[in-house]
Amino acid sequence: MRPSDILDPSLADQGVRRIDWAWQEMPVLRQLAQRLANHRPLRGLRLSACLHVTTETANLMRTLQAAGADLVLCASNPLSTQDDVAAALVGRYGIPVFAIRGESTKVYYQHINAALDHRPVLTMDDGADLVSEIHKSRTGLIADMLGGTEETTTGVIRLRAMADAGELRFPIIAVNDAQTKHLFDNRYGTGQSTLDGLIRATNILLAGKTLTVVGYGWCGRGIALRAKGHGAQVVVAEVEPVRALEALMDGYQVMPLVAAAARSDFIVTATGDKHVVDEVHLNAAKDGCVLANSGHFNVEINLPALEAMATEKHHPREHVVEYILRDGRRLRLLAEGRLVNLAAAEGHPSAVMDMSFANQVLCAGHLATRTTPLEAGVHTVPRSIDQEVARLKLAAMGVRIDRLTAEQQQYLASWQEGTV
Ligand SMILES: NC(=O)c1ccc[n+]([C@@H]2O[C@H](COP(=O)([O-])OP(=O)(O)OC[C@H]3O[C@@H](n4cnc5c(N)ncnc54)[C@H](O)[C@@H]3O)[C@@H](O)[C@H]2O)c1
Repeated sequence: MRPSDILDPSLADQGVRRIDWAWQEMPVLRQLAQRLANHRPLRGLRLSACLHVTTETANLMRTLQAAGADLVLCASNPLSTQDDVAAALVGRYGIPVFAIRGESTKVYYQHINAALDHRPVLTMDDGADLVSEIHKSRTGLIADMLGGTEETTTGVIRLRAMADAGELRFPIIAVNDAQTKHLFDNRYGTGQSTLDGLIRATNILLAGKTLTVVGYGWCGRGIALRAKGHGAQVVVAEVEPVRALEALMDGYQVMPLVAAAARSDFIVTATGDKHVVDEVHLNAAKDGCVLANSGHFNVEINLPALEAMATEKHHPREHVVEYILRDGRRLRLLAEGRLVNLAAAEGHPSAVMDMSFANQVLCAGHLATRTTPLEAGVHTVPRSIDQEVARLKLAAMGVRIDRLTAEQQQYLASWQEGTV
């Protein structure tokens, strides 16, 4: 067996049962696995993936394996690894995994490098860590690289910054930008699982509480929508005027975060940006306020400032640290400021990951089977892939839709038909 680094191989049976449970909610991947097993478009291609090690990712790995890929997986977040899933992937599916829940930053990067020792020709990232490590310290891999895919907003931002600086040396497909990804995964997936994380971590009734969402992007919209459904008074803090206006017309209160903090029982960040909850907001926050992040990594809440302001720290429940400030106010930080939906809940429900990961599989196939390689840079998901994923999902859900008639197609394509 090829080397791996996981917590406990004896957890494999439990992992297999949970992976199979998720598989039932992933009909698009099931269809793709069946179809791709016939012509194996990724046959023998070395693929390193750096993704949250969850049941859904395990099903992505199954599908890529059915398509013929030679796989290695490491974690894209030290706290999101499900150790039973890692054990099942190694023990049942023979896929090497380098991931242990709660691993230190040092081990996290050792694991990324172990995944790169596989000498991938394809990468699959959630936050661009593989691609950035390749460009920083493993540049020998670049010459053979067919390309990579990127799952999330922040990763795409990092990669576009690299491309703009002329530093990105192979093609990446921004899976996050597919409509069948961000319209569903970021909005409905993050929406539901963030609320799940808040509730599991605190067991506080949301009805009647004030919950502020910072950032009204795809994730923020989903969180706001689901919090409203729980009966919370939802406030939105934004920096982008169009999105702030949209939030207002969607029925939320909109105000600067410093004003919102003074009345909020919960503040949830979803911006991809640094220190959006900063010292000034922590100083204004209401006693008892719960702080959580569902954006990227652990930078959205200014943790060093919070630590410096506190005189005492308690650990009243799993995933909750209560900071007592000099003036006696208590601020409750969830999941160490990391992604609350992954750390305190189980991440996105399988049914949304089904679509995101179907895009991943089809994009890997697109990179692998092109006759002319894509140029270095960040590429959008081909529209045909997006539409195929939506079609497969609708079919799996037993939903049929109408088609344009020939007359309508002609009408929509014509510039000659006037308005009268
Ligand atoms: N928790 C998860 O499982 C999960 C899933 C998908 C994406 N993400 C992450 O969530 C983050 C947001 O993703 P998205 O798709 O919603 O992005 P997006 O770009 O659609 O939205 C981000 C919003 O945050 C706003 N913003 C930026 N800085 C701000 C500030 N200081 N104050 C207030 N608003 C600010 C921007 O104006 C923008 O409207 C990204 O980091 C992404 O990687 C997390």
